Amino acid sequence: MPHDAPPAPDDRRLIAREHHAAGRHELALAAMREAVRETVAATDLNDLAVIAAGAGRFDAARAVLRAAEEIAPGDPDVRENLEALGPGPLDVAALRAGSLGPALSPKLLGHLLGSPPPGDERLSARIDRIPSATTPRERWLYHNTMALLWSGAADVFENGPLLGGTTRAACLGMLANPRRADGPRLHTHDWFRTDVAQDGGDADLSALVPAGQLDGLVAQGLATPGALAILRAEGDFEPLVRELHAGQDYSPLLDIHRSALPDAPEDVGRLPGLWAPPPGARYEIAFVDACKSWFGTRWFLERMAPATGPGFLLALQDFGWHTCFWVSAAMGLMLDRARLVAYEGTTYVFEFPDGLRADDVARMPATLEELGGAGVDEVYGRLLAWAWSLDDSWLLLSLSLQHAAALASLGYREEARRRITALAGRPEYAGTEAPAAFHRPMALRLIRQARDTPTYRPDGSAVRL
Ligand SMILES: C[S@@+](CC[C@H](N)C(=O)[O-])C[C@H]1O[C@@H](n2cnc3c(N)ncnc32)[C@H](O)[C@@H]1O
Repeated sequence: MPHDAPPAPDDRRLIAREHHAAGRHELALAAMREAVRETVAATDLNDLAVIAAGAGRFDAARAVLRAAEEIAPGDPDVRENLEALGPGPLDVAALRAGSLGPALSPKLLGHLLGSPPPGDERLSARIDRIPSATTPRERWLYHNTMALLWSGAADVFENGPLLGGTTRAACLGMLANPRRADGPRLHTHDWFRTDVAQDGGDADLSALVPAGQLDGLVAQGLATPGALAILRAEGDFEPLVRELHAGQDYSPLLDIHRSALPDAPEDVGRLPGLWAPPPGARYEIAFVDACKSWFGTRWFLERMAPATGPGFLLALQDFGWHTCFWVSAAMGLMLDRARLVAYEGTTYVFEFPDGLRADDVARMPATLEELGGAGVDEVYGRLLAWAWSLDDSWLLLSLSLQHAAALASLGYREEARRRITALAGRPEYAGTEAPAAFHRPMALRLIRQARDTPTYRPDGSAVRL
């Protein structure tokens, strides 16, 4: 037999299984497709689907067409018939469009996107290897947003990656997206500094990443002692992040940038490397976790707006985190311009059907003081009514705490204390004191923390009641 003869179908099956067992999923898929094509004709499946649809079996028809698409990707007849059938009400695309209504669709889509695919523990372990402030399910939300919602044709943005747990999840999702074109990248931005207090904690990384976990990265061979030494001596974690994401299958898709968001007006002109998108930049999705102040959030949204278009997705990791009122207040001021499409943990993903526009952002006053106490009450009144219509009990609590946090920041401490104390006494939160990393099981702990320190200032220091 000449050396270049194609392998027989059985050999291909064997080869496919070997690739699969070794985690070479793309190679496994290509080999298995070829093997299946020898025995199953995509045209037969296409005909079966058309006949099934004629008999009213639309779900079966879609499933058969998807199988045909998997065997013969890009087959024009299969694609045309799938488009003609449209998505079923539980399809990701349909849920994104709100097929089950404004309350159930984002709840279910968030649950689906946040769920690890069954039987891929290796991928889960790989995603979970990098320390992160997110829950595993939130990281799957990042992964599956990229695998299933992203068009594959445009750049994506992230800020506040910390060590890049979320970044890795998003990049692996890009790799898993069959529509991914050559060229689109994930641009991740951080100032990579530890000399500023983080989220009301200490001015080092310890609030977010315990020292033992950092040492563990070196022990596992994921980073060098040199990168850790730079972090500890200079407070700069960019070298560590670069090492953690170098030499990976997804590395060519990732651009790491150092940039800063100004947290207060005086940071402009003082902080080097302030963030702005490069001219002509266009982002389809933005994952946001570096907006740690009112001013920084507005700065970010204002500059992001021209880089967005119809269908822009804004994933806000802090939207449901009780201290970060500036994030929810910003969205509360443009609630009629965006649609919630999915949520998991404290991460909420909004779609802007017409893109994020400059006049949307202009609704956010330059300072919290300009909005004032009455404005804060008005925005949170609207947000709470909306959360009620979403049937999202966590959001009702976190928005109530954010409302109090905004009032405390304005100096209405007594009012803030009164509101939080009332929440602390509510029976539905009794028993939610778990020392967990998840928000719901530790609701009462968070309420009690909030009664002491409801939020933090632009410089990261705690606001105390
Ligand atoms: C809570 S951590 C991010 C956690 C991360 N998203 C994860 O899931 O592991 C916030 C991140 O935002 C970055 N950050 C905070 N304020 C910033 C600013 N003003 N400019 C740029 N980056 C900032 C911090 O360095 C940090 O990496």
